[in-house]
Amino acid sequence: MLVQVIQSRLGSEGSLYGSDLLGLRLEACIPTEHGDQQQQISLSMDEIIHECKTFIFAGHETTALLLTWTVFLLSVYPEWQERLRKEVLREFGKDNPSGDNLSKLKEMTMVLLVLETLRFYGPAVFTQRKTMTGMAAGEIETPKGLGIIIPFAIMHRDKKVWGDDADEFNPLRFQNGVTKAAKVPHALLSTHN
Ligand code: HEM
Repeated sequence: MLVQVIQSRLGSEGSLYGSDLLGLRLEACIPTEHGDQQQQISLSMDEIIHECKTFIFAGHETTALLLTWTVFLLSVYPEWQERLRKEVLREFGKDNPSGDNLSKLKEMTMVLLVLETLRFYGPAVFTQRKTMTGMAAGEIETPKGLGIIIPFAIMHRDKKVWGDDADEFNPLRFQNGVTKAAKVPHALLSTHN
């Protein structure tokens, strides 16, 4: 799919490939004449394809899913919808929020809501690791080369870690910060903390 998109961009009329991320990457990749010298190729086509995958799957899908679940949870919990609406109106009135001033919403809703959505319905449900050497994690001994699955979605509902209300949606659990929300400071695993 990506190769088709890239090829159609390369075949487009004119010398510009577009001013979006892909266009800029293609500009960096395709050699251009500068007098007698050809500009150095800084990214290979494979690297461009890998970068596109990073932005589409690691960047776009994750963010879009998080927003989808946040809106879903707002519809299920109208009291949080009301809190968010009040906070937005208090901070911005009738103005549109922008990237520069969005951080004003950190007081109550945005941060608490988004962190709890990441815990409750996080876009990344598990990850994997492979041991490079034999090692021990607490009482668990693992041999070299062992594949380990780390199931965030299950761990995020562990009552031993999150408390008896682990199965409930409760953004307020994050009110003292992400490291204080559970019994261990690194309990929220579903994104880059
Ligand atoms: C809500 C949004 C996001 C979530 C839930 C999310 C989730 C994650 C998680 C769980 C990992 C760790 C995977 C692992 O170590 O096994 C990860 C790594 C990564 N994410 Fe995201 N991510 C989000 C947004 C983004 C965005 C916007 C970008 C870039 C545009 C991005 C790029 C990456 C990259 C490059 C890595 C690999 C980092 C490394 O291995 O050193 N992510 N992400």
